[in-house]
Amino acid sequence: MRRKLIAGNWKMNGSLAGNATLLDGIRVGAAGLKAELAVCVPAPYLAQVQAALSGSSVAWGAQDLSVHESGAYTGEVSAAMFKDFGSRYVIVGHSERRSYHGENDELIAQKAARELASGLVPIVCLGETLAEREAGSTDKVVIRQLKPVLDAVGTQMAGIVVAYEPVWAIGTGKTATPEMAQQVHELIRGCLAQGDASAATGVRILYGGSMKPDNAKELLAMADIDGGLIGGASLKSADFLAIAQAA
Ligand code: PGA
Repeated sequence: MRRKLIAGNWKMNGSLAGNATLLDGIRVGAAGLKAELAVCVPAPYLAQVQAALSGSSVAWGAQDLSVHESGAYTGEVSAAMFKDFGSRYVIVGHSERRSYHGENDELIAQKAARELASGLVPIVCLGETLAEREAGSTDKVVIRQLKPVLDAVGTQMAGIVVAYEPVWAIGTGKTATPEMAQQVHELIRGCLAQGDASAATGVRILYGGSMKPDNAKELLAMADIDGGLIGGASLKSADFLAIAQAA
């Protein structure tokens, strides 16, 4: 049985004062929830998040990391640094990294492998654009994005989380229907199973893209939707917790 994971992606949002209120709400509301909760925050706030959430059931982490271990890489943050602050998860391959920072499938796969080697859990994002969906190439795109990750992580596949995030649904208020999402999640699970059938049944596949309290329940009821990667709705503790309760 896969335990549902509801992970917040704060993106480039937050302030010390605002985070304190948000984290307090999440910490209190998380007690007794069946789903696992996590927040992926901007790196400068990790110390604050660690202090606020230590001893709670909520995990934390970041939104991107360097593919390098250490050294002369100005502006980059390493996996070991995230570990130093108690992180469990780091997102890789978010569509905003792919489109605004030119990250390609190969780099993202190497980042996922770097994370696993450091004892972190990569949340590997993939998903098609609207043009790709309309051209009927959703399956092809998702497989193209996933394959290099599977090659890079090899026998450690059980240690990853996958997040299917159709680009056209991110921050737009448009969400995939539960059936549309399930179809892609099933495809992803099938692709994982080609690598390792037994590990594939344990890998959590999250849906992301305008998941909100009012649509979470039906999405999370689908057989292969094992949680959510939540952007906008993770910035309000009441909304974030309502999604977690739906899981
Ligand atoms: P959204 O973002 O929930 O605001 O659509 C999801 C994401 O980008 O991870």
